[in-house]
Amino acid sequence: MNKTIIVTGGAGFIGANFVLAWVKQGLGTVVNLDKLTYAGNLENLTSLEHNPQHIFVHGDIGDQALVAKLLAEHRPCAVVNFAAESHVDRSIHGPEDFIQTNVVGTFHLLEAVRAYWSHLSTEHQQDFRFLHISTDEVYGSLGKDDAAFTENTAYAPNSPYSASKAASDHLVRAYHHTYGLPTLTTNCSNNYGPYHFPEKLIPLVIHNALVGKPLPIYGNGQQVRDWLYVEDHCAAIRRVLEAGKVGEVYNVGGWNEQANIDVVRTLCRMLDAKSPRADGQSYADQITFVQDRLGHDQRYAIDATKIAKELGWKPVETFESGIEKTVNWYLAHQDWVKNITSGEYRNWVQTHYSERGEELA
Ligand code: NAD
Ligand code: TYD
Repeated sequence: MNKTIIVTGGAGFIGANFVLAWVKQGLGTVVNLDKLTYAGNLENLTSLEHNPQHIFVHGDIGDQALVAKLLAEHRPCAVVNFAAESHVDRSIHGPEDFIQTNVVGTFHLLEAVRAYWSHLSTEHQQDFRFLHISTDEVYGSLGKDDAAFTENTAYAPNSPYSASKAASDHLVRAYHHTYGLPTLTTNCSNNYGPYHFPEKLIPLVIHNALVGKPLPIYGNGQQVRDWLYVEDHCAAIRRVLEAGKVGEVYNVGGWNEQANIDVVRTLCRMLDAKSPRADGQSYADQITFVQDRLGHDQRYAIDATKIAKELGWKPVETFESGIEKTVNWYLAHQDWVKNITSGEYRNWVQTHYSERGEELA
């Protein structure tokens, strides 16, 4: 079997970072299947435009015939599934797309992969991997003093997004136990870094700060997330693909818990230093507390001991170094942000934040 892999959702935030690093490191050809929803952006991949190691295919993971055709044509040694609807707030406004892609789509993808895999030679069957990218949100919400999520924490998803991801994780697990499909699952904490769509907290705050808009903090801003630099997440995925034990789950996290308000204050401080406001005031003046998210999970924290001990992975970036790289990237890529913050994105921001008492569009 050759070193070709199929990546789904490789035009989105984490998928694009993964594809770029994979090709840059010369690890083999990537066939990138992406539906190009509002979150998929081929501009993330312009540096690969003429690179034969990257083959882009516009399509849906739920299109079983298309996936079967790609598998037969490219004979990959792995499928890495990033494709998903990924934004909690959107899942609250309209859960249906989340069920369609994250649950039904993953099911069809698994069916196509199972059919392909079952006809491989025994040797190739053993080498093949289906790696499913999931989230810490499937474990639910932690209290202030609770121990961090391990791979044995019971699932307790609270949003339509996390429930749909939990369902897909269960399907992946079942395909291993029932059919012997060589699956791996990673459950990662909040990522940040280049190409992060500005509907999510960190890129939204950087963008709004620079264009003079309010920086919306849901509720009291004391909710805690465990932030991981996206390239560290991609390195963890490569390591799991390379050495993970078939059928296992690996939690991936940054050992870096931060309250939302502290993240936003850090961003304001960095922007004050790197791109000061014309009036000399701090960007922190733009912080605005708005109506809380429905069912807002209080705290996520990942215990990443298993992947550290068994596979030797740990994050390279600290929050300080990662957030500095991120702010620098956004400052240097204002055109990328400008191309996104129009059209459908503008409509989303208008509706979503006006409900919270803020006009941000
Ligand atoms: P994203 O929303 O930025 O990108 C998702 C990509 O999937 C887009 O390119 C989109 O066009 C594509 N897509 C959506 N539906 C599709 C379909 N039916 N068929 C093919 N492609 C489709 O998401 P992201 O932040 O890059 O997250 C990637 C994965 O990682 C998701 O599975 C998510 O649940 C998981 N994850 C994300 C985070 C995070 O902090 N962003 C943390 C842990 C896990
Ligand atoms: P988000 O980036 O949407 O990721 P997730 O919900 O998957 O953790 O949000 C991160 C945290 O920031 C979350 O607690 C919600 C909060 N938040 C705000 O306070 N204001 C905002 O405008 C957004 C988008 C998020």
